[in-house]
Amino acid sequence: MASAKSYSIFLLFLLPYDLHLATAQNNGTVPVGATLTAGTDSSPWLSPSGDFAFGFHQLDEENNINDLFLLSIFYNKIPEKTVVWYTDNKDQNPAVPRGSQVKLTADQGIVLNDPQGKQVWGSKIDIGAVAVGHMNDTGNFVLVSSSTNRLWDSFSNPTDTLLPGQMMETEQGLFCRKSETNFSRGRFQFRLLKKGNLVLNIANLPTDLAYDAYYSSGTYDSTNSSNSGYQVMLNESGYMYILRRNSQRFDLTKGRNGNGNWSVVWSEPENICVNIGGGLGSGACGYNSICTLDSDRRPMCACPKGYSLLDENDRYGSCKPDFELSCWGGGQGYNKELFDFHEVKNIDWSQSDYERFKPYNEVQCKNSCLSDCFCAAVIFEDDSCCFKKLPLSNGMTDSRITSKAFIKYKNKGDDPPSVPRPPDPDDKKKRKMMNATGSVLLGSSVFVNFAMVCGVGLGFFFIYKKKWIRNSPGDGTVETNLRCFSYKALEEATDNFKEEVGRGSFGIVYKGVIETTRTSTTAVAVKKLDRVFQDGEKEFKNEVVVIGQTHHKNLVRLLGFCDEGQNRLLVYEFLNNGTLASFLFGNLKPSWNLRTNIAFQIARGLLYLHEDCSSQIIHCDIKPQNILLDDHYNARISDFGLAKLLTLNQSKTIKTAIRGTKGYVAPEWYRKSTITAKVDVYSFGVLLLEIISCRKSFDIEMGEEYAILTDWAFDCYRNGKLDDLVEGDMEAMNDIKCVEKLVMVSIWCIQEDPSLRPTMRKVSQMLEGVVEVDVPPNPSPFSG
Ligand SMILES: *[C@@H]1O[C@H](CO)[C@@H](O)[C@H](O)[C@H]1NC(C)=O
Ligand SMILES: *[C@@H]1O[C@H](CO)[C@@H](O)[C@H](O)[C@H]1NC(C)=O
Ligand SMILES: *[C@@H]1O[C@H](CO)[C@@H](O)[C@H](O)[C@H]1NC(C)=O
Ligand SMILES: *[C@@H]1O[C@H](CO)[C@@H](O)[C@H](O)[C@H]1NC(C)=O
Ligand SMILES: *[C@@H]1O[C@H](CO)[C@@H](O)[C@H](O)[C@H]1NC(C)=O
Ligand SMILES: *[C@@H]1O[C@H](CO)[C@@H](O)[C@H](O)[C@H]1NC(C)=O
Repeated sequence: MASAKSYSIFLLFLLPYDLHLATAQNNGTVPVGATLTAGTDSSPWLSPSGDFAFGFHQLDEENNINDLFLLSIFYNKIPEKTVVWYTDNKDQNPAVPRGSQVKLTADQGIVLNDPQGKQVWGSKIDIGAVAVGHMNDTGNFVLVSSSTNRLWDSFSNPTDTLLPGQMMETEQGLFCRKSETNFSRGRFQFRLLKKGNLVLNIANLPTDLAYDAYYSSGTYDSTNSSNSGYQVMLNESGYMYILRRNSQRFDLTKGRNGNGNWSVVWSEPENICVNIGGGLGSGACGYNSICTLDSDRRPMCACPKGYSLLDENDRYGSCKPDFELSCWGGGQGYNKELFDFHEVKNIDWSQSDYERFKPYNEVQCKNSCLSDCFCAAVIFEDDSCCFKKLPLSNGMTDSRITSKAFIKYKNKGDDPPSVPRPPDPDDKKKRKMMNATGSVLLGSSVFVNFAMVCGVGLGFFFIYKKKWIRNSPGDGTVETNLRCFSYKALEEATDNFKEEVGRGSFGIVYKGVIETTRTSTTAVAVKKLDRVFQDGEKEFKNEVVVIGQTHHKNLVRLLGFCDEGQNRLLVYEFLNNGTLASFLFGNLKPSWNLRTNIAFQIARGLLYLHEDCSSQIIHCDIKPQNILLDDHYNARISDFGLAKLLTLNQSKTIKTAIRGTKGYVAPEWYRKSTITAKVDVYSFGVLLLEIISCRKSFDIEMGEEYAILTDWAFDCYRNGKLDDLVEGDMEAMNDIKCVEKLVMVSIWCIQEDPSLRPTMRKVSQMLEGVVEVDVPPNPSPFSG
């Protein structure tokens, strides 16, 4: 659902203007043969009201050293000549030099030639001949044939703006420009995919490979295509919605009246700086750059000390080190005496770890990084030390990141460290102008602008969101993107806790519906916590914030919470396909392929919980009831962070109460040994066996010999009878090598001795075939 994820970069602006000043002097018609030349006084082709113009727009007029022009449609009456359409080209900068000429031709429509007469852009017309062009008052430039057939129009070829009355079909999209004045394609895309989902993502340039989406509308229905989206519409009143094939609507925004200035009405995502996972790409800023949200929730990108922009003109681009960090010649070329650290707080790069040491103190941490020619930075927290390698990706600042970061730079030698680049003071002003990129006629006295500009991202329903938080009682101290709900609001959202959807070890879960904007709602799962809290009030909020900060595609997302006296509730995104338990142990055996995928995804989610440097989370209750499945049957771990939230300090060696669920808990829970992340590895091992065999970890109906899955599985493995484990499952039988590998991994995970169990990183590597799986020993050598 829309509310569940962080997304980026689309902004809806409003600007009322008095449109009645102009007296129409033409009828908007452009005859075949008409031309315009860039840089001459030839006046652009105007719409009848004069609101829109088609012609050459001079770029960056004050300071245009290159003297470049853009063939575009722009709003002609507001001072900034707001561009709403231009000759977008995936591979080439659309700006053209002075003297370039556009001509309306009968056979090819619009033809743009450079001053030498070479064609640089053309409207493509498949059949028919153009009789006339027409600059419409809606902002659409239309080419029609003599029989008034529409041969080409700018509305059907959107660039980075949608105007009221304009729609986007499947496989169409908006592509951001590089910056306010550079109209080359930038990295953000907002597309309606073939199957009906509207997504916002970053793409790799120039290959166009899309990274994981920041936003997905969820309007693809794999089981019933008539529920899938096929058009994105911005209607004349400023309402934006996705039209489904069954003509139902999925509302995105509501129209409203402006107040005399451009204003942001809606934006996505909540936090564009957050790593959305997927493992590839640099994030919202370039590599080695650090993303900070400003007060408007837009990203500011900055290079750390000792780094500078790779392309000086690309503020959102990558940073390069101003020194050489090289292991060349076996590290001989690396002299650690020349390097030092720049200490920064509240910064992390969530994706560039290559080594982790624990327990280490700060001095050990820094020294070992200094001696390592690969190490570019370290993150230190408590007693854990994470090494980061170049290029650093997904760098972000956030006041909730409590670890210390030490960034290596060269402090001696020939190249002096550069000064850290302060945020550009003009930034805000400039970005304000960027907003005003593209405008639209709305009714007769309001302009709505829908613009996408690279590097501009804003808070999730910016205006309303802020209000929610302010209105929430007792929320003054928690700094978080989570919504704080009143008990009453959740009572309403769940229709007085009517529909129970699950019962976990910490409380009952109810289905509910919350409003995300004035026009759209989203389904949520509301968990009413039933435990007594050992820790104070502050602690509850702190832990909730930690949970809310934990984002990964294989984790269920926490959206908000309620903290009113005895009433403590957590609000999660609602996932449609229920728990892994009902999926695995239901009447139909899910396919082998799907099951192995789910196993891999759970491993990834757990790895993230364990190794996310800023705060390790031990789940303590991994079992199929706590794994949920989304629309596409992706596994998402739920209830993480709750063990810590609801019971004693985890590092205590003597446990007053055993957490977790019988059948899945590791033996050390019963002993006087320390609880570590290895308890989750144990539970994962059990879960993996359940996924392989589609049977429960403990099932007395199977007969005594088979009742305990872990014992039976080891027997099957030892006796070379893996077939028994997957009996009747042809897909699995045909993939018996893989079954064997998974069983071996499971047996490693369920070793009684925690130190013999692999880490989740190793588990993932074994599952994905990155490392070999050795023959596992008997998991419980002492119990016969
Ligand atoms: C528009 O104006 C031009 C001349 O300015 C004229 O030739 C043409 O017929 C007009 N078209 C319509 C539809 O009024
Ligand atoms: C201009 O737009 C109006 C709708 O606003 C439409 O009725 C008209 O046909 C359009 N003109 C052309 C030439 O497409
Ligand atoms: C615009 O960006 C492109 C791609 O980064 C670059 O090649 C071009 O030089 C830039 N143009 C201007 C005028 O800065
Ligand atoms: C698909 O959904 C529509 C309602 O949106 C429903 O009328 C139709 O029966 C469904 N078709 C199938 C095959 O479920
Ligand atoms: C736009 O959509 C809204 C919401 O469905 C509707 O109330 C309004 O009348 C529509 N406007 C136009 C011009 O169709
Ligand atoms: C629009 O913005 C300008 C400059 O920021 C301000 O002076 C003016 O009062 C604003 N107008 C309205 C109607 O808010």
